[in-house]
Amino acid sequence: MKYMTAEPFRIKVVEKLKKSTKKERLEYLKTAQYNAFRLKAENVYVDCLTDSGTSAMSNEQWSALMLGDESYAGCKSFYKLEKSAQDVFGMPYIQPTHQGRAADYIMAQIYAKKGFYAIGNMHFDTFRGNAEMLGALAVDYVINEGAKANDQYHPFKGNIDLNKMQSLIDEKGKENISVVIITVTCNNNGGQPVSMQNIREVSTLAKKHDIPVVIDSARLAENAYFIQQREEGYKNTPIKEITREMFSYCETATMSAKKDGMVNMGGLFITRNKEVFEVANQLAIAHEGFITYGGLSGRDLEALAVGLQEGCEESYLEYRTNQVKYLGDRLKEFGVPIIEPTGGHGVYVDGRKFFPQIPQSEFPSQRLVVALYEEAGVRAVELGACAFGSKDPETGAPIWPELETMRIAISRRVYTNSHMDVIANALGDIYKNREKYKGMKLVYEGKITSLRHFTAGFELL
Ligand code: F0G
Repeated sequence: MKYMTAEPFRIKVVEKLKKSTKKERLEYLKTAQYNAFRLKAENVYVDCLTDSGTSAMSNEQWSALMLGDESYAGCKSFYKLEKSAQDVFGMPYIQPTHQGRAADYIMAQIYAKKGFYAIGNMHFDTFRGNAEMLGALAVDYVINEGAKANDQYHPFKGNIDLNKMQSLIDEKGKENISVVIITVTCNNNGGQPVSMQNIREVSTLAKKHDIPVVIDSARLAENAYFIQQREEGYKNTPIKEITREMFSYCETATMSAKKDGMVNMGGLFITRNKEVFEVANQLAIAHEGFITYGGLSGRDLEALAVGLQEGCEESYLEYRTNQVKYLGDRLKEFGVPIIEPTGGHGVYVDGRKFFPQIPQSEFPSQRLVVALYEEAGVRAVELGACAFGSKDPETGAPIWPELETMRIAISRRVYTNSHMDVIANALGDIYKNREKYKGMKLVYEGKITSLRHFTAGFELL
């Protein structure tokens, strides 16, 4: 294996990238009010805003597109997807949706209830938004090691803290908790995995109190790979055996297929509970499309059927996690503070440690996003004071989040390690000159604070 550590694929089609000048980028930034979401993608050199829907499909996926059966009901493509998803999840009932948040919507309608608690490691925004609209109380109970951006090693920083979960059950009563949602990997704190032991123990505790367990499985294969690499007893277990065991502990799973499904669009709602499935089918008919296409075209279903299998290939997962680690290691060489160990889908830079002179009220991680784009045309995303900040409902006083990071999300099978070097070298330079940077002022946020990072406007201080 000594000579076989590079990409387990070769490149058949390329997409040209535009290189801009620093002067041009300063103009683009001004026009975008210093919000990376508002930049035009054509003006980005290496796009690390997200790993969602940005994967390169394989030749097998592209050829599967031609097999797409576009029949309204009972199309052939659905049965291929059903078989593939059953194989990965080990669960019987499969409802496609147009993307992950549509599955979140259906799941929230079924499992979130007004005035009831929804426990999670760290809920992703789209479930949280749905839950809050329904009046549910979404709480994050990730273990303390995962609640802070730090370089302290823990193999499974996405784990749920069982003591916190038990305390809520004792304090509020099991009848006031409607669901536990485990997000694998945990996106908000660094793409950090959840161990099999934790999934099992959370499930046992929940079952004891009749609380259903749901797994948000956007990055299920990356999580399974970390279990194989880091958890005792799984070294020789094939990835799909691991995924099937993970899902044996839950009633229902949602998936944004735009991540480990290796497709540009798609989602899944999967369950072992027939009654839940029937409700999901009707919600899908009302909001997504008929049961067997759920808002996707036949060709999308075909690409996902193939992509789910490719996402679980061990050689791919080894390359994938190694590329993320490579970027993390290069950044560490420059002394750049990152969340360690690196997770599945990106490197998260600690904004507070990077710019200690910039308080959270002046958005240090957002400042870093702007600096990185200005320096090298690389687009990352803030996950800190802007994205997770909130306001006291009574006084309107700002509440700053514990986590203050810039996420550099790595698209699947898209960039080479030379692109990783561009990112690392640029951040290394910014880090050398870090003292000269000042913060930012939020000048526009829109009505819904929890969604402001998509549309916010800033000025440089
Ligand atoms: N769950 C998780 C854990 C996610 O990361 C996402 C999307 C969703 C659900 C929603 O899925 O986008 O298909 O509707 N995360 C993207 C990101 C947007 O950049 O992390 P979707």
